[in-house]
Amino acid sequence: MTFQRISQAASYIRQLTSLPCYTGIICGTGLSGLAEIMRVKQKISYANIPHFPVSTVESHAGNLLFGEIASHPVVMMQGRMHYYEGYSMSEVVFPVRVMKLLGIKRLFISNAAGGLHSNFQLSDLMIICDHINLHPDNPLRGANIDELGTRFPDMSQPYDPELIALAEKVAEQKGIKLQKGVYVSVSGPNLETPAEYRMLRFLGADAVGMSTVPEVIAARHMDLPVFAVSVITDLCTPTHIQKVTIEGVIAAARKAEPNLQALVIGMLEKIQESS
Ligand code: HPA
Repeated sequence: MTFQRISQAASYIRQLTSLPCYTGIICGTGLSGLAEIMRVKQKISYANIPHFPVSTVESHAGNLLFGEIASHPVVMMQGRMHYYEGYSMSEVVFPVRVMKLLGIKRLFISNAAGGLHSNFQLSDLMIICDHINLHPDNPLRGANIDELGTRFPDMSQPYDPELIALAEKVAEQKGIKLQKGVYVSVSGPNLETPAEYRMLRFLGADAVGMSTVPEVIAARHMDLPVFAVSVITDLCTPTHIQKVTIEGVIAAARKAEPNLQALVIGMLEKIQESS
């Protein structure tokens, strides 16, 4: 049974560490530098955790890190699972469910995304305010896991307004340029055709990527507040369509990292350590 597997993974981790973790963080492609601002106290390889899926993407390390950012206790996923790697949706969201059982009170997510909005520039940060799920599957499909949440979870506020307001305050204080917008998820792994980029823009999206939405759905099912940021790693407006390479995506993500690090530090500083 799924809940039993989630509990077994959480119990195994709790046998190894009793460190607190109030905020869970998922690092996106090219964004593992968030680990550089963390005082890591314990590192657990995904491969050692029962039932934990192991990431197959080379640019993703596979570790669960326990420690602190700005004195705030966090657990960080250094590397995430993507649907395009061949995992089932329940495998993709398995770590989020485990982190909830470990005690996180909110989830921070970063990802690399293509910019569909004509005002966006390379390496901009975009706070995700809403999303469109174009993955061909849903992590909540099948028998509901009653221990985690209800059958028909509300999605009227998928991204926490208080965390968004906090991010805007921190960005203003630190002079970090922030965009806000709608993220659309696709399964990938191929990038989009020009016609597909136009369609996604027409549907109302500002950025497109291959992750995040499954984890957000699973988090909201468990009533976990979510804050998510896209780093714009390629521009996909009709006048800007260019060849997208993984090297280009990683380079643009790397360039945005100081801003992302400053934003996360500023936010966690302002969130009480005990909450
Ligand atoms: N499309 C989909 N996923 C992405 C992109 C993109 O242009 N850039 C980074 N991830």
